[in-house]
Amino acid sequence: MKKLSLLFPLILAAFCAANQPFNYERDLSFIQPEINDLSDPLTYFVDVAGYENTIYRDGVTSVQLLFSSSNSTSMIQRFIAAFPQGNSGVLMYFLNSNDSQATFNNTVQQPNGRLAVKLVNNSLASARGDYNMNGIRGSMTFNNNASLGVTILGSVRAIRDYAEGYYHMDPIFNYTLVNYSSSQVTFRRAWINGTFNMIVTLTSSDTSKLTFDAYPPATSLSPVICNFILGNGVTMATVDFLVLFNESSIGPGIDKKHLFLPAPNVSISALDQALTDLYNDQTNGLPATEVAFLTHTSKFLAGGWRFLTYFGRDDMYSLRLFMALLQPEAIEAAFSGVLERLYLNGSNTYSKEQVFEGEVCHEETIGDYSSYININNGRGDLGGAPYYAYSMIDTDLLLLPSLAHYFLELPQGKDRAYWFLMRTSSLDTTKGRTYYDLLHLNVKFVMDTSQPFADNPSVDNLRHLKPGEPVGSWRDSSTGLGNGRIPFDVNVGLVPGCLRAIASLAKAGILDKSLEDTADRYATVWEQKASGFFEVKMPIEQAFSHILNYTQWANLTADLNYGEGAFNDSSFAVQGAAPTAPDTAHGWLSNDDTDHMFYALSLFNDSTPVQTLHSDIGAPLLYANNISERYMKAIADALLPFPKGLLTPIGPVVANPAMDANINDYMLFDRAQYHGSVVWGFQNAILASGLIRQLSFCGSYLDSSLPFVDVYTQPAAIPPWCMNKELVGALLAGLDRLWRGFEGAGKNIYSEVWSYSYVNKKFVLTNLGDLSSSGMEGDAIQLWSYGTTDIVA
Ligand SMILES: *[C@@H]1O[C@H](CO)[C@@H](O)[C@H](O)[C@H]1NC(C)=O
Ligand SMILES: *[C@@H]1O[C@H](CO)[C@@H](O)[C@H](O)[C@H]1NC(C)=O
Ligand SMILES: *[C@@H]1O[C@H](CO)[C@@H](O)[C@H](O)[C@H]1NC(C)=O
Ligand SMILES: *[C@@H]1O[C@H](CO)[C@@H](O)[C@H](O)[C@H]1NC(C)=O
Ligand SMILES: *[C@@H]1O[C@H](CO)[C@@H](O)[C@H](O)[C@H]1NC(C)=O
Ligand SMILES: *[C@@H]1O[C@H](CO)[C@@H](O)[C@H](O)[C@H]1NC(C)=O
Ligand SMILES: *[C@@H]1O[C@H](CO)[C@@H](O)[C@H](O)[C@H]1NC(C)=O
Ligand SMILES: *[C@@H]1O[C@H](CO)[C@@H](O)[C@H](O)[C@H]1NC(C)=O
Ligand SMILES: *[C@@H]1O[C@H](CO)[C@@H](O)[C@H](O)[C@H]1NC(C)=O
Ligand SMILES: *[C@@H]1O[C@H](CO)[C@@H](O)[C@H](O)[C@H]1NC(C)=O
Ligand SMILES: *[C@@H]1O[C@H](CO)[C@@H](O)[C@H](O)[C@H]1NC(C)=O
Ligand SMILES: *[C@@H]1O[C@H](CO)[C@@H](O)[C@H](O)[C@H]1NC(C)=O
Repeated sequence: MKKLSLLFPLILAAFCAANQPFNYERDLSFIQPEINDLSDPLTYFVDVAGYENTIYRDGVTSVQLLFSSSNSTSMIQRFIAAFPQGNSGVLMYFLNSNDSQATFNNTVQQPNGRLAVKLVNNSLASARGDYNMNGIRGSMTFNNNASLGVTILGSVRAIRDYAEGYYHMDPIFNYTLVNYSSSQVTFRRAWINGTFNMIVTLTSSDTSKLTFDAYPPATSLSPVICNFILGNGVTMATVDFLVLFNESSIGPGIDKKHLFLPAPNVSISALDQALTDLYNDQTNGLPATEVAFLTHTSKFLAGGWRFLTYFGRDDMYSLRLFMALLQPEAIEAAFSGVLERLYLNGSNTYSKEQVFEGEVCHEETIGDYSSYININNGRGDLGGAPYYAYSMIDTDLLLLPSLAHYFLELPQGKDRAYWFLMRTSSLDTTKGRTYYDLLHLNVKFVMDTSQPFADNPSVDNLRHLKPGEPVGSWRDSSTGLGNGRIPFDVNVGLVPGCLRAIASLAKAGILDKSLEDTADRYATVWEQKASGFFEVKMPIEQAFSHILNYTQWANLTADLNYGEGAFNDSSFAVQGAAPTAPDTAHGWLSNDDTDHMFYALSLFNDSTPVQTLHSDIGAPLLYANNISERYMKAIADALLPFPKGLLTPIGPVVANPAMDANINDYMLFDRAQYHGSVVWGFQNAILASGLIRQLSFCGSYLDSSLPFVDVYTQPAAIPPWCMNKELVGALLAGLDRLWRGFEGAGKNIYSEVWSYSYVNKKFVLTNLGDLSSSGMEGDAIQLWSYGTTDIVA
């Protein structure tokens, strides 16, 4: 503590441009917060998409444990334990041993009767072993004879490679059967770099009910055999499991009382009963527990089970969305995680992508899988050192707007800038650098990369995906942007938003003051010019006939495109919402004479647009300023019911190719695609928060009360579009439909992604992984999806 105060004048000098008063008598207790209450393990059960997830964290270990739904008749039975330490995990498939056809994917019904493998209630606990090993123990029941299928010990990444549709495992991840008897089997795997081990032991709790018949592989190419044999006439037997491994700890978790502000300052007066119910769930601690599970003093985790590790984009979107509910120590933990992983020349130079100093890390690969990546990158000499990826172009732009929101807009961030930015990094790659220095590297990167367009606004000077990278925005599947190279959200929302954040932080003296004018000047050009490149225009009747064609292709009914479409029979409404938009020009406001205009999802290098309607139009609403009337009209249109717009009664789809003249995009964006006509929790939250943010700028021109939103900085002047009553009415009607989507999705709003089935003229929430064998399985809990909490609360 003493040292810190001696350093203080030096740091103060670094902020010489600042002229706001600072309080020297600081409470330093946040530096060693009283976190990680061991007496009160955090535990929660969540049943999503056919998987039963048990989330557990105490002072020893942290785990998400999943079993296939016990009453599913089609899913293969599966055990997954995912741990944030080293992003480690174990996967075991259990096959009905009578079922010679059983496969490891979930596409095939299991013949010859069902096998159900279930966790015994309340049996899950943490465990310790020799050699600093820790992990979990518990019990599971078998109702049938079974055999062990593909089993992977080690890294969650290796498990994902297998379970997400590739059904392939590099033999480097093979485990061994170390001992076996009729009552117990033990598997072991040494990490690639040899340092750590994972051991899984299965024990029959009563050998008169269940015995093991296990033996090692006959040849190096054949698998371990392990059968679970029930006694004659036995219908249920219990197997105890113990999973131990010795990965490095990721440091203390943040518990609920240190995560959330004691009493969120919220008003629910504008909300209907359904939203009040969701709010009550939060105060009862349900989402709060899940969010806490994903937060640690060293970093926030993106979601589980698949992403129980650091992702910069997820952290920064999450903070922007629900930081208002969090305590400063927790917020700063997430910012530290991002700043310490910044790219620094000469330090973490082994990244394989083209990368510049000051870029924000997208994903951190740690544990066993980092050895694997390093070997595959020809850098086996790096052993198990973490591999940091900098492949994304949006993530670099998300840090400063969130920081500005914290330091300049939120009460809990006021006066924290000095104390936070004077801290120094403790991570290997950036060790000893102050956060202030690191932040300025990011600022420089943003300024340098946005200057060409500010000087000469052309397609070539828009931000493109990195050369050779198929992905670069949140739609990071190979076809997520429809093969375009210039993403809408980055160029129209994030670049101008980030530049304004730089200008505001400079003006406040938190960043170098000299940046203010330049950043403002750049921002103005981006705000005024970028969106124009993405405009798609087509004759109104042609656009509508495309939609009818798509409606047919997608096996939807044409009546969805008239009036309130799928929202017709709902009576749920936000107080004060205006009547729905008049149905002239098919309800569209964004028309130039006889043309309808909407914004492309992305552009090819030659400026050809991908003509798919998309939820990324929310990014400018949440991040950018000085939004035009032209833009807001396109928003009102996008908030029309699907398939004319994006909104369904179970949430907005993130991509809708209905107007696309390129009908090949129908397949790229269908309801079985990860970034297709499916609903993402955080996009839902961005659209709603962003829309409320813009509407709140209308101030007294808005003849309507809005739900709680954390907008503290109003623009100097009321946006001119606020005077257009028809537009504002249409936007409020769109907001109303968004609310109904939250209600329709229920608890799923906190999961990662979900899809729909259209059954008896209704949109029914459907697990994406069930729609096709290659369909991605959504995470049950996803940090940024709790962004809805901020709106709902
Ligand atoms: C069991 O199946 C029913 C009907 O399919 C479903 O509603 C329920 O959520 C399932 N329960 C569990 C625990 O999976
Ligand atoms: C499994 O196979 C055994 C032996 O063939 C048979 O007795 C038993 O009924 C089968 N069990 C089921 C559930 O089909
Ligand atoms: C186990 O928990 C589930 C879900 O809470 C409950 O439905 C079931 O009855 C419990 N089983 C036992 C044996 O207690
Ligand atoms: C099997 O191996 C584990 C781990 O080395 C050990 O703890 C256990 O005692 C062994 N069991 C038997 C039956 O040898
Ligand atoms: C991890 O545990 C294994 C035994 O399971 C032991 O051989 C190894 O030395 C341990 N590694 C460390 C770094 O403690
Ligand atoms: C090693 O892994 C390969 C690929 O999954 C598998 O075919 C083989 O059976 C495994 N061998 C052992 C000894 O487990
Ligand atoms: C499991 O296999 C054993 C041994 O073959 C047999 O006695 C028993 O009936 C089987 N149980 C079931 C449920 O098939
Ligand atoms: C809560 O918010 C209202 C409106 O923004 C403000 O007037 C009030 O002072 C706040 N209360 C607290 C305890 O922060
Ligand atoms: C092996 O990897 C671990 C992290 O998983 C690391 O702590 C250790 O230093 C590595 N050892 C070698 C020899 O690379
Ligand atoms: C309508 O869609 C079908 C595919 O379902 C396509 O063959 C046809 O060309 C489309 N028509 C128009 C006018 O786009
Ligand atoms: C529409 O239904 C037909 C007939 O069931 C089916 O073949 C086709 O795949 C469906 N189209 C879509 C996009 O689901
Ligand atoms: C799933 O298993 C079935 C049966 O072996 C196979 O036909 C199908 O191709 C598999 N699906 C995938 C995506 O591998």
